[in-house]
Amino acid sequence: MSLKHSYTLIAPVYDAIIRRPLAPARRRSLAALPADRPCRVLVEGIGTGLDLPHLPASHEYLGIDLTAAMLHRAQARIGSLDVSLVQGDSQRLPFGNNCFDYAILHLIVAVVPDGAAVLNEAARVLRPAGRIFLLDKFLRRGERAPARRLLNLLTRHIATRTDIVFEQLIEQVPRLRMLKDEPALLGGWFRLIQLEKRVD
Ligand SMILES: C[S@@+](CC[C@H](N)C(=O)[O-])C[C@H]1O[C@@H](n2cnc3c(N)ncnc32)[C@H](O)[C@@H]1O
Repeated sequence: MSLKHSYTLIAPVYDAIIRRPLAPARRRSLAALPADRPCRVLVEGIGTGLDLPHLPASHEYLGIDLTAAMLHRAQARIGSLDVSLVQGDSQRLPFGNNCFDYAILHLIVAVVPDGAAVLNEAARVLRPAGRIFLLDKFLRRGERAPARRLLNLLTRHIATRTDIVFEQLIEQVPRLRMLKDEPALLGGWFRLIQLEKRVD
């Protein structure tokens, strides 16, 4: 089964499972988005749009997701925000270089088969000094985590990977530098990470 198929099946129950436990971490992550000047913000793997209620109205948002059933639910959450939705793949973004100020990557980097491609693409479409707000579950270098590595065999094709070591991923994306890395949930398995595109 592909991720697109499984998320089509997950879409009707996604909010019931994810909304409450992740809400405080979302709020913390998105509080760093400035509200004082209009910006272009890319929301990757926007899903059912659970980030939308936490976003300031001052910006222009572009939400992308692989799954039509998830985008359909996001559409209903837009309200008065300036949001355009596109169906597409975060590993191959259909946008030009340097055209966004911020990218929100909540629960997408560890979901896709190639998380480094997502980060590289985000770096390409961000302007120099543009920032990424990332919320996801990662292992740390040297962490054995046998249960999560075993779980990965079950979940990687239907929902998410659970075996990604973030430090190995970021080594593959030299255009990004780490600004912040904080534990968010479940003893630091979920992390709030801020990245910035280097200015050449
Ligand atoms: C775990 S959900 C996260 C949704 C949302 N970001 C959130 O924080 O609730 C993962 C989302 O990524 C989408 N997705 C999976 N693979 C993708 C890809 N290659 N490109 C874009 N979106 C993808 C799924 O359809 C799903 O909506």
